[in-house]
Amino acid sequence: MRLAVLSDVHGNSAALDAVLIDLDRRQVDRVINLGDCLSGPLDASGTVKRLMALGWPTVCGNHDRQLYDRPKSEMGPWEAWVIDSLSKDELDWVKSFPKTISEGSTLFCHATPKSDEENWLDFRGPQHRLIARDLPGVTSRLGDTSANLICCGHTHTPRVVKIPGGPMIVNSGAVGVPAYLDTRMEPNFVHQTGAPFARYAIIEIVDGEWRADLVNVPYDPSDMIKLAEAKGAIHWARALASGWIA
Ligand SMILES: [Fe+2]
Repeated sequence: MRLAVLSDVHGNSAALDAVLIDLDRRQVDRVINLGDCLSGPLDASGTVKRLMALGWPTVCGNHDRQLYDRPKSEMGPWEAWVIDSLSKDELDWVKSFPKTISEGSTLFCHATPKSDEENWLDFRGPQHRLIARDLPGVTSRLGDTSANLICCGHTHTPRVVKIPGGPMIVNSGAVGVPAYLDTRMEPNFVHQTGAPFARYAIIEIVDGEWRADLVNVPYDPSDMIKLAEAKGAIHWARALASGWIA
């Protein structure tokens, strides 16, 4: 069984299309989507139509939940950009996502098994940059799962962590957002992967052990950059072009 795991498309249909072409070449048996599908200033309408047609099992991300758990007046800009473009059927599809998916010895979540918004493998450090958690910090967020493979997204930072005697945890990174600026705090939080690629992971068992390959797919972001610029999302445009904010 060769599994593809992807997360955090955030309305970037160009990046999603590039991943679909890449997936075709890799002959995967199954694809799981870890959520945050649509929110942002890009192509939510095109993305939702693609994802609904694909029918992949999808867990609920915090940005998916925030499309329906509050009125528009209380939404953040990422959701406010999107909500009026979704039909009732499309929003119902978002509402249908489970919090987690558990299959055999595997568990799929957006952020952690218990939360759709708590950073797991990395935390926001004192310099307002992501810092890798230590082993107790990672282990304490496992909960009571007995899975030996857990996949998450949320931080947009691809990483593979193995807990000694415990599961492998794979963060597949973000398909659609290679960098972003969070201006809700001072100084602003900056996340940047440093490359404008669509990220996802291929996972399979080799010689009795889970093995994860973190994949980086180059693509042409020019149409997405135009959409970001049209909404005044200049940091998004810069991030999509380069993978860097600053
Ligand atoms: Fe996200």
